[in-house]
Amino acid sequence: MIKNRVSLKSLNTFSLRVYADYVIKVYTEGDLLIFWNRFVQKGYSVLILGRGSNVLFLEDYCGVILLNRIKGIDLHEDKYYWYLHVCSGELWHELVVYSLKNNMPGLENLALIPGCVGAAPIQNIGAYGVELQKFCEYVDILNLDIGEKIRFTVDECQFGYRYSIFMEQFKFNYVIVAVGLKLSKTWRPVLNYIGLDKLNINSVTPVGIFNAVCIMRQYKLPDPLVFGNAGSFFKNPVINCALMDDLLNDYPDMPCFFYKQNLVKLSAGWLIENCNLSVSTCGYASIYKKQSLILININQQATAGEIVTLAGRIYEKVMDYFHISLEPEVRFIADFGEIDSVQLLSTGKKVLRK
Ligand code: FAD
Ligand code: EPU
Repeated sequence: MIKNRVSLKSLNTFSLRVYADYVIKVYTEGDLLIFWNRFVQKGYSVLILGRGSNVLFLEDYCGVILLNRIKGIDLHEDKYYWYLHVCSGELWHELVVYSLKNNMPGLENLALIPGCVGAAPIQNIGAYGVELQKFCEYVDILNLDIGEKIRFTVDECQFGYRYSIFMEQFKFNYVIVAVGLKLSKTWRPVLNYIGLDKLNINSVTPVGIFNAVCIMRQYKLPDPLVFGNAGSFFKNPVINCALMDDLLNDYPDMPCFFYKQNLVKLSAGWLIENCNLSVSTCGYASIYKKQSLILININQQATAGEIVTLAGRIYEKVMDYFHISLEPEVRFIADFGEIDSVQLLSTGKKVLRK
């Protein structure tokens, strides 16, 4: 279905009132190639979107949005693993439910994360002590310029905290079309995250963890249909242990968690709560009371400008107070494509990401 000047309000979880020239739902890889070539040849900008749960549209998008709705799951197994080849338009949470219903545990800690399977590897989605990379065997991408499919092994994806190679390369000419997951038949619960550590390791079941995660998330996270949001607005900063020691001298209560080698992860939420921010709102944009890392759209009336102004104030205060640069997790989309979010918050300049 093709429309002209289409509202994106229901296509971005921030519920911002913005428009795109065209929005097209795409159900097959063949259609992806057809629409890509047709519009790129005419000089349009093209953006691939899943469920819009990690984007901030700064203004109307002057181009074409291809909504990824490519569905399908293939399953096979051997003695040790279940192997799932999942098309990228499947919903992540529905995949978690499907795997548990079919007695293939492993994904339960990642319940209720919004969005499509195809977006999951891009920032290596993670929650409650588990990240996608633990189960990812490969990621299939389609190079839209040459119509060629390429398979990235898990090592080639270069996964890290909220990071993968897909954030840096091939940005303007690829789509993730499928993700290969490998679930071990020897299930081990992951209960080290605060909140899950109360569960009994000897009796807990995958569904028990799934339910606990859903309850915690429903309590802590705002429902985008009530308060538009895109989950955590900023990433949690990762710093080295020497810097952490200095910070702990000045702020003995500052929480930190081991990340890897000599690196620790800070709580950006704590930094926001302790940086002397005088106001927590800007127009209809606000810091969510139960979870400071989340910015919300009150009454679904906020403008992108209000959200950016609030985010900019937070960025500046945390920088002034702790000398730590917060990096947005949410991807900023301007009229012709994605821009560098840190540049915008720190200098006010819109610089296209390359
Ligand atoms: P979109 O927002 O549609 O797209 C995100 C980016 O990826 C865009 O730049 C888009 O162009 C690109 N993209 C999307 N699909 C493709 C594709 N197939 N090929 C190439 N590029 C593509 N994230 C976590 O990691 N952990 C959480 O616990 C978590 N909780 C959240 C809770 C809430 C309430 C919300 C609203 C968000 C949360 N998120 C969380 C963020 C979000 O759910 C994830 O980033 C998710 O993977 C985004 O999926 P999407 O389909 O909505 O992506
Ligand atoms: N932490 C641990 N172990 C714990 C508790 C916390 O390592 O037992 C770490 C977390 O990994 C995080 C920091 O301490 O780095 C703060 O944790 P908090 O529980 O306050 O969560 P948060 O920072 O608000 C993060 C993710 C969420 C994810 C939750 C639960 C980011 C930017 N956000 O939120 O992801 O659901 O942890 O794991 O990492 C999102 O990305 O949109 C998102 C909602």
